Amino acid sequence: MLITGAASGIGKQIANEYASREACLALVDKREEGLGVVAEIASMLGSPDVITMDHLINNARILKQGLFEDLSHKPDYTRVMDVNLWGTVYGTHYAIPHLKKSKGKIAVIASFGGCYPTPGICFYSASKAAVINFYERLRTEIRDSRGVTIVTPGLIKSEMTMPRHSPKSTERAAKAMVRSTCHRDMYLTVPFWTSVFYLWKVLFPEVTERRNCWSYITMPRASRSTRARSRRVALPSIET
Ligand SMILES: NC(=O)c1ccc[n+]([C@@H]2O[C@H](COP(=O)([O-])OP(=O)(O)OC[C@H]3O[C@@H](n4cnc5c(N)ncnc54)[C@H](OP(=O)(O)O)[C@@H]3O)[C@@H](O)[C@H]2O)c1
Repeated sequence: MLITGAASGIGKQIANEYASREACLALVDKREEGLGVVAEIASMLGSPDVITMDHLINNARILKQGLFEDLSHKPDYTRVMDVNLWGTVYGTHYAIPHLKKSKGKIAVIASFGGCYPTPGICFYSASKAAVINFYERLRTEIRDSRGVTIVTPGLIKSEMTMPRHSPKSTERAAKAMVRSTCHRDMYLTVPFWTSVFYLWKVLFPEVTERRNCWSYITMPRASRSTRARSRRVALPSIET
């Protein structure tokens, strides 16, 4: 099994989870050092030292945050597409012949942001929406409707979400992902309750739009200007 982005967060936990099921692992990440530690732990947990490709876990990601109007550096967001979409697609292209022979599986870690309109991460979300769409078509083309598990995580604890409150532990999320992949599920949303937001979007698109605009644009701007006003008021009193 090949796991991309395995040195950190969800990828690292998925590696641990498969290792404890005595699976053979091929781990990929930009961070060589972190990857060495994950590989050591994986062999301690029971992974044999042989590389095969029974499952392919497309997990690596990069995230570029900011409102579209404020983004100026084009290479940053083309890179988001390069890693999140093209990195996943190319890896899959080369893995498919092997997976067909071994009757293997593909798991792709997309994002709930790919099907729910979260502002401030437009390129990241667009890359994940493209990933979801691509793999839905791919499973028809390879005539194996249960050969591809599309995972749409909500908020999971990892470096990506660290400063914020994340309701789901990485370990529990990784366990659910591995279980779903092995059961050949078509889709998995973790935490499950996140799906309510999707239903809400389909049933009440305008309310969703207004709520998102208020909580992601109006409120942050209002609190930024309040902070700026209080700084302006506070400064003279410090100087005197
Ligand atoms: N955590 C969440 O709440 C959440 C929510 C929705 C979706 N997801 C998805 O879940 C997956 C795992 O995310 P995570 O939260 O575990 O993030 P993470 O802790 O940042 O792990 C991602 C790993 O991928 C590596 N990576 C980046 N570009 C790479 C490349 N070109 N080749 C190989 N490795 C690369 C990163 O290395 P560097 O850090 O050095 O760049 C990092 O080690 C991602 O696909 C993410 O989009 C996560």
